[in-house]
Amino acid sequence: MGATPYIENGLLDRSVFSDPDIYRREMEHVFGTSWLFVAHDSMLKNPGDYITTWMGEDPVIVSRDRNNEIRVLLNTCRHRGNRVCLFDRGNTDGFICSYHGWRYDVDGRLASVPYRKGAYLDELDLSKWGLVPAPRVATHGGLIFASWSQTGLGLDATLGDAAWYLDNLVLDQHGSGIDFVQGHYGYRVKGNWKIIAENFAGDHYHTGVTHRSSFVLGLMPSGGNEQVQDPYGPFEVSFPNGHGIGGVKTGEATYRRDLEAAAKVGDEDLVRIATRYVNDRYARMKKAMADIQDMPYGCSHGTIFPNFLFSGGSNALRSTGFYILHPKGALETEVWQWFAVDRELPAELRELLIQSNRSNGQSASGLFAQDDAENFERVTEVSIGVQARRVPLHLQMTLEHEGNWPGHEEWRVNGLPGLVGPHFSEHAQRGMYSYWASLVGR
Ligand code: FES
Ligand SMILES: [Fe+2]
Repeated sequence: MGATPYIENGLLDRSVFSDPDIYRREMEHVFGTSWLFVAHDSMLKNPGDYITTWMGEDPVIVSRDRNNEIRVLLNTCRHRGNRVCLFDRGNTDGFICSYHGWRYDVDGRLASVPYRKGAYLDELDLSKWGLVPAPRVATHGGLIFASWSQTGLGLDATLGDAAWYLDNLVLDQHGSGIDFVQGHYGYRVKGNWKIIAENFAGDHYHTGVTHRSSFVLGLMPSGGNEQVQDPYGPFEVSFPNGHGIGGVKTGEATYRRDLEAAAKVGDEDLVRIATRYVNDRYARMKKAMADIQDMPYGCSHGTIFPNFLFSGGSNALRSTGFYILHPKGALETEVWQWFAVDRELPAELRELLIQSNRSNGQSASGLFAQDDAENFERVTEVSIGVQARRVPLHLQMTLEHEGNWPGHEEWRVNGLPGLVGPHFSEHAQRGMYSYWASLVGR
């Protein structure tokens, strides 16, 4: 393709999904430099708490040390390379390698080695052989991110205006924050990670087709996929640095739907609790966004570039799903998924909200994730073929109108940051791939 590598004029070179050399470079230049989500602070409440995860294909330990500092440590023994922590999560006073027994403190320092005198003649300098730390760790609204790059934009500058939507619609920054429900689901998709990332970044277009069965069965409301753009949304919003957030709705329609849903949650007591929660939450949002003329009530999906995704922040009576994409080669991705709820959510509603997402939301045990995975796998598989690879993909929807969409004067979006576009558009995908291409190079 032309001067801009891989994407030009809304046409995407599909070798980006299967070429091993591109994959190698994106591990180096995208996952090796970007701010990557690693944990939420509700997973690491006490000193000694840790979880293990991945940054790209590198395994890491995320721990809270004795001084309450969050550490992100490469999970590989400095002796001969074994993984030193083999568990998903726990609380410990150190990590002992199962090969020869080198022992590391929760902050990563090498604390002891077996037979130090006999084997190393007392000459091993323990202070030089600690676990390798990620040089930059930062948090936003309880979300913990790390980067392997010593330099570059800070986390908040990288999130940019996407943080405004996260704070106001997803992380409940104006209440007391959110809690991740302990433990995650994991499943593998034989698909390239970017197909999933771009779908969450701004693909409202697929919802009415791919997920049609859920709407036909009445498991979900219409999804806002009407032919004509409603002035109150949903909208898809694109940001610099590759992020996209969509399903943004303004006005009060969703609030009214939440009240209707609250009236049906159960017995009189539960209805009262749910109604009060919906109203309290709305009052908090109105206060926090008092300066916004067309305040949004929710958003339904998003990608924080490159691989941190969410869904389900669109209404009050649903938990939010958070996801990380762990690439396992160009052709396969491991998806990890959590549910999260507001800390101020009344205990009586907690299970109800989690269950509503788990059973019919974007979840391994719901219908949406499975509907999507089938498409993601086929798109990846076809991209391997020599002939198919010569044929670019079409991401030109609304390209000619980007930023000046027909009818946008009618939209109720005054005060919303980011590039706000219609629900049927591919500007968020174009934004994501353009940014990705700027990092990965030729
Ligand atoms: S590889 Fe870890 S102690 Fe030898
Ligand atoms: Fe989907």
